Amino acid sequence: MTLRTEREDVGDEPVVLDTTGETSPYPFFEYMRRTDPVFHGSLMDHELMPPELKPEDEWVLFGYDGVFQAFRDDKIFTSAAYDKTIGLVMGHMILAMGGKEHHDHRSLVARAFRATALERWEPSVIGPVCDQLIDEIKNDGHADLVKALTFEFPTRIISELLGLPREDLDLFRRLSLDIISIPTDIMAGLTAANELHDYFLDQVEQRRRKLTNDIIGDLVAAEIDGEKLTDEAIIAFLRLLLPAGLETTYRSSGNLLYLLLNHPEQLAMVRQDRSLIPAAIEEGLRYETPLVMVMRTTTEDVEVGGHTIPANAQVDLCMGSANRDESRWDDANTFDIHRPRQAHISFAGGIHMCLGMHLARMETRVMLNSLLDRTTDLALIADDGTGEETKIVGPIFRSPNKLPVTFGIAS
Ligand code: HEM
Repeated sequence: MTLRTEREDVGDEPVVLDTTGETSPYPFFEYMRRTDPVFHGSLMDHELMPPELKPEDEWVLFGYDGVFQAFRDDKIFTSAAYDKTIGLVMGHMILAMGGKEHHDHRSLVARAFRATALERWEPSVIGPVCDQLIDEIKNDGHADLVKALTFEFPTRIISELLGLPREDLDLFRRLSLDIISIPTDIMAGLTAANELHDYFLDQVEQRRRKLTNDIIGDLVAAEIDGEKLTDEAIIAFLRLLLPAGLETTYRSSGNLLYLLLNHPEQLAMVRQDRSLIPAAIEEGLRYETPLVMVMRTTTEDVEVGGHTIPANAQVDLCMGSANRDESRWDDANTFDIHRPRQAHISFAGGIHMCLGMHLARMETRVMLNSLLDRTTDLALIADDGTGEETKIVGPIFRSPNKLPVTFGIAS
């Protein structure tokens, strides 16, 4: 079902959610926050879905408070249904776990992603990878930053952090692209998932014989109360890192670049004063989250914003809308890196709060610094001759379709 809603208060133009994601969903979200923040219905077109996956009862939360409540109450809002969706491809992974199983598993994998554990990677891997990528394009004076930078840099970084051999980069890039394309090409996604299983199994076995100082090595060595992760658990976790870590980061860094390029006065301020970068990253994540919505299932009847959502309902948590909730942010539809700091919800909350958020922030900070250090006069090309507008697109995962820019070389 495609949801179409008429807006009563502004002109005659109806506010329609474009389920292809070609036009901005934010006017629609604003309308829903004002009129029906706990919405009984769906934003998805379920026509093509296998019957066993079609929800019988579905709700969408648009306001910040409702989304936050659902993330925090993981007993009532369980994520176990991931086993029946992406779990079919990834295996039983951390996102679908709850209770003690999640706690134990997260304790085992979390060490590798702590801010302090990541510090070692900034000078040795993340900085050099970004510098090298930008050096590859800097003499050209123009580039599409999506092709040249935003996808390539987290791909190379994850492959380095996992300790994959350099000669496997092309293979890893292809399999990563295929596995994250599951929503549009299921066969390519499933084939990639199988290939990645065998590839990662081989990498894990190598480290069981001889431990290495990388994330796969950390996962093989991780132990709590004598318990270690099984091969299958490590592989499920590694495969999850591609959509969870690579796709989100490439999209969010593209969104931030798009937003800064479209607000040249704010880009100039960031260029001048690099201590503004962390605030710019958070504002970019709030204003255009790379992942708009995630799903939960209720285990019992629950009150949200004055409505009773029954047990066994699918509840979609619309983080994109929650991030623009006007009861939490003044002028929420304005991109403003100087706004007073107020936590957004793009990294979720509660037990499943993003494990990779420190890495994502570090990668984006290093990338932006490196780009600003190596170029001058960075500007979006208004007409790149393709006839296609440069814009942020996508229904659930969102990011720019391209970022054609010109720049000079910094001396
Ligand atoms: C800007 C970039 C990122 C965003 C916006 C983001 C967003 C999220 C969100 C919303 C969740 C919760 C999903 C849910 O509960 O259904 C999540 C979980 C997770 N993320 Fe991220 N993520 C980002 C980057 C990363 C990176 C770089 C990694 C690792 C390399 C990563 C690894 C994970 C993992 C493993 C989980 C599952 C945690 C758990 O279930 O306990 N993410 N992320």
